[in-house]
Amino acid sequence: MTNLAPSRKPLPIEVRGTSRLPLGMTPAQFLRDYWQKRPLLIRNAFPHFTPPIAPEDLAGLACEEGVLARLIRHDEARRRWQVKTGPLAEADFAKTGNAHWTLLVQDVDKWDADVAALLEPFAFLPSWRVDDIMVSYAEPGGGVGAHVDQYDVFLLQGLGQRHWAISTDPHAPKDFRPDVELKQLARFEPTHEWLLEPGDMLYLPPGVPHDGVAFGGPCMTFSVGMRAPSRAELTGDLADYLAERLDENQRYADPDLAPAKAAGEIDRTALARLRAALPFAAPLDEETLRDWFGRFITRYRNAQTPAPPAKPLGETALLKRLRDGAQLLRHPWSRMAWSRGKATATLFANGQAWPAPPALAQRLCAQRGFTPDLPLAQDELALLLALVNEGHLLPHRPRHR
Ligand code: SIN
Ligand code: CO
Repeated sequence: MTNLAPSRKPLPIEVRGTSRLPLGMTPAQFLRDYWQKRPLLIRNAFPHFTPPIAPEDLAGLACEEGVLARLIRHDEARRRWQVKTGPLAEADFAKTGNAHWTLLVQDVDKWDADVAALLEPFAFLPSWRVDDIMVSYAEPGGGVGAHVDQYDVFLLQGLGQRHWAISTDPHAPKDFRPDVELKQLARFEPTHEWLLEPGDMLYLPPGVPHDGVAFGGPCMTFSVGMRAPSRAELTGDLADYLAERLDENQRYADPDLAPAKAAGEIDRTALARLRAALPFAAPLDEETLRDWFGRFITRYRNAQTPAPPAKPLGETALLKRLRDGAQLLRHPWSRMAWSRGKATATLFANGQAWPAPPALAQRLCAQRGFTPDLPLAQDELALLLALVNEGHLLPHRPRHR
């Protein structure tokens, strides 16, 4: 007998609802094979589905104060999109016509218990991962345009038909159209297209380009959307949380301070003291810690900061001023520090950072005004020019007596 070469059958992207509704498979199978991985269209996920909210009641909700609603009109001929945010007025609906517009209302589950009941079949997901049920109503041709969402979404067709196009191409371009506030994709080439009927449901993981357009007649779609905080949000909130629990009397301390070897340098001993004060920052590499601290400490408790000059100087103009004997005076509100890195040093001033030759960085921190030695190396000139154009250094020609 020849050896069997095991092969994995590709997973279907379309299934039919079964007795294990609404996913067409068990939650465990769905989570293993599709959740956060690949799209899935479930035909007849909710058999005989009837929308738990009428279009008129959705429109009424969109007119209430505190309800997040958008009315989006598409002028196909002029490739123009018009967005009106809620609360909407009855008059807004009088002008819509019978094609190419859609109404979207977020958090409808919070306002309507019948809509909230749609969440029950999604109890296999942690409830804190669920964001809301957004309900859209659209007339033929209505939609929000091709876009990408950052969150998983279950798009349940509630009324009428909707044409869905998606792209499963991992290299699909994700750049936005610059002219539209809806963050629509500049380019969209679908790999799959379907017409969804009431009760059909399309699951999309984050980052899949998609476009849903109402087809034939009035259309309602119920989007069960997830939420997932960004790493930036998690980090920011954790930092606030930890900070709130720390005693203000515990401060950066340096009772072991030795006389400064180089003016303004954030040296290794200072960084070691920082590490002791921030035990939770232990995984941060030296470069990151140094870069953050340099920016932080040079803007910390500054009552004011220099303003850039009205007209920036060019390299040639600065060189001419220096050749004519101009000094560079440090702005009184400019606070500088520097540190040595692996390849080069960094100069910090009021929260900004620039690569800097160590000798120049030290001199800038040490002297309130100085006359640079000419000729300048390119990296020296670039740094001085940047500092002049941010208002940290002021070229000044001393008067001859
Ligand atoms: C819609 O219901 O019109 C759009 C939902 C979506 O694409 O996220
Ligand atoms: Co979307």
